[in-house]
Amino acid sequence: MRNYILLGLIIHLWLLRLLCSAAEFDTPDERTASYWMKQAQQQLAERLARTRHLTDNRVAKNIVFLLGDGLSITTVTAARILKGQRMGHSGEESRLAVENFTYAGLSKTYCTDSQTADSACTATAYMSGVKTNMGAIGQSASGEHVEPITLWAQRAGKATGIVTTTRLTHASPAGAYAHVPRRSQELDIARQLLEQEPGRQFHVILGGGLGKFASERSDGRNLIQQWHDAHPGGCFVRSLSELQACRVGNGSVLGVFNDNHMAYHLAAPKDQPRLCDMTKAAIEHLSAASPNGYYVFIEGGRIDHGHHETRAGYALDETLEFDAAVETAARLTDEQDTLIVATSDHSHTLSLAGYAKRGTSILGQDDSNRDTNGVPYSILNYAVGKWQSLNKAGKRENPGPHLRETSFTPSYIRGKTGVHAGEDVAVFAQGPQAHLFSGIMEQNLLPHLMSYAACLGDGTTVCQKQRREQLSLNATAENPNKTSKLVPAGA
Ligand SMILES: *[C@@H]1O[C@H](CO)[C@@H](O)[C@H](O)[C@H]1NC(C)=O
Ligand SMILES: *[C@@H]1O[C@H](CO)[C@@H](O)[C@H](O)[C@H]1NC(C)=O
Ligand SMILES: *[C@@H]1O[C@H](CO)[C@@H](O)[C@H](O)[C@H]1NC(C)=O
Ligand SMILES: *[C@@H]1O[C@H](CO)[C@@H](O)[C@H](O)[C@H]1NC(C)=O
Ligand SMILES: [Zn+2]
Repeated sequence: MRNYILLGLIIHLWLLRLLCSAAEFDTPDERTASYWMKQAQQQLAERLARTRHLTDNRVAKNIVFLLGDGLSITTVTAARILKGQRMGHSGEESRLAVENFTYAGLSKTYCTDSQTADSACTATAYMSGVKTNMGAIGQSASGEHVEPITLWAQRAGKATGIVTTTRLTHASPAGAYAHVPRRSQELDIARQLLEQEPGRQFHVILGGGLGKFASERSDGRNLIQQWHDAHPGGCFVRSLSELQACRVGNGSVLGVFNDNHMAYHLAAPKDQPRLCDMTKAAIEHLSAASPNGYYVFIEGGRIDHGHHETRAGYALDETLEFDAAVETAARLTDEQDTLIVATSDHSHTLSLAGYAKRGTSILGQDDSNRDTNGVPYSILNYAVGKWQSLNKAGKRENPGPHLRETSFTPSYIRGKTGVHAGEDVAVFAQGPQAHLFSGIMEQNLLPHLMSYAACLGDGTTVCQKQRREQLSLNATAENPNKTSKLVPAGA
């Protein structure tokens, strides 16, 4: 009898183990585009049902999507403090431009094969609405090509554009137009930008990376010349002054401001446009390009690079450049017809720790605290990076004397470079349907929410809701005795 009980128990435990561990990660559906498209539309429907009491029927004529690459929430807080301290204030009470936005939420950044994401799979998520494998751009984990929101916007008659401080062929901007299994295929990505849909229809293309279009090519192509031939009235510009001299009309603008990534703002030549200059130019040219509005992607791409080098000073300065771009976008657009969404693709490991006194220099050290060996530590630290501030004996030493805006920031673990982090990133939104960008979202939901607000793509849109309500209002007008019930959105 006892043996039977024991045997039963063993079988029971074995079954439990099967149930609990096996099935969980075995999700072949995630390799398909349709899985993520359906999942996002379901989440949109749930969100619409939850927010039914809010009556925002405004349609977004324009979408400005701002991405801070590697802009973790700690980076947001530290940059805010630096902004205030540069103005001679204590800093903590200072405000970033996104703090004027009405709604904020969190975005879950994991990819199909990774807990912590890279900028390629995340670009596919926030551009095409589909999660994919690390390194893949514009295709699902099984290799199906997926369409970016820029294409949906063009089909709706909108003007489209991309702006970045990195190479135009780098992973984040490539998500707006390219389809490659590996992000390193930048020579292919360059051709896809200027020769294929939707890239060849972009009215505005501003960033760095000239080499990938001409000098670095082994196929002898000069893609810039090709662009010139295809856009005889357009402006090809190489500097801030040339960008500003380009007349706003119905021509296109291609601006490439460096052979590689654009220089960090802290190290930039005078005639390199700032992200806010490019934002202003993009919004002006795109507003003039189509009466139906526009979609523009604007990336502060080098926040991530500052973090990889574990130079927090660079990352924070680039974040303040991003902040100036958000401020410019908000100032140049009308909240009634323009949806602005600002977010990040993934986090970084920067921490802001200890109990520093109010107004302590954010790039400095915390004088009120010591580790167990009595050694002070900096306020900002990375989990992984190339500098640990150790003395000759390998013991941690006071980093204070080495801390400057352009110097390395200490790390706990020594690694070749700083690494991405896996926690959620923030999403900030204002304008038509901005309330949908609150709570916690899968990252691939973002383009579905934007499309809902601007009536793009094949999914549910606010225009369908408007039509339904108009129909039922008309029915009531015809027969006021029959009480008409509004159909709930998303039903
Ligand atoms: C917030 O909006 C106000 C009013 O439009 C503006 O004056 C202010 O500069 C904005 N704040 C930031 C930080 O952009
Ligand atoms: C804009 O298009 C119109 C009509 O095609 C043309 O006459 C005009 O020259 C164009 N303007 C610019 C700046 O390209
Ligand atoms: C409802 O009535 C208005 C005014 O008569 C009309 O312009 C509109 O097209 C109608 N809407 C629908 C969906 O039938
Ligand atoms: C609506 O109801 C009122 C009162 O019952 C009636 O007098 C009127 O004729 C009705 N109108 C229509 C359009 O049915
Ligand atoms: Zn990175």
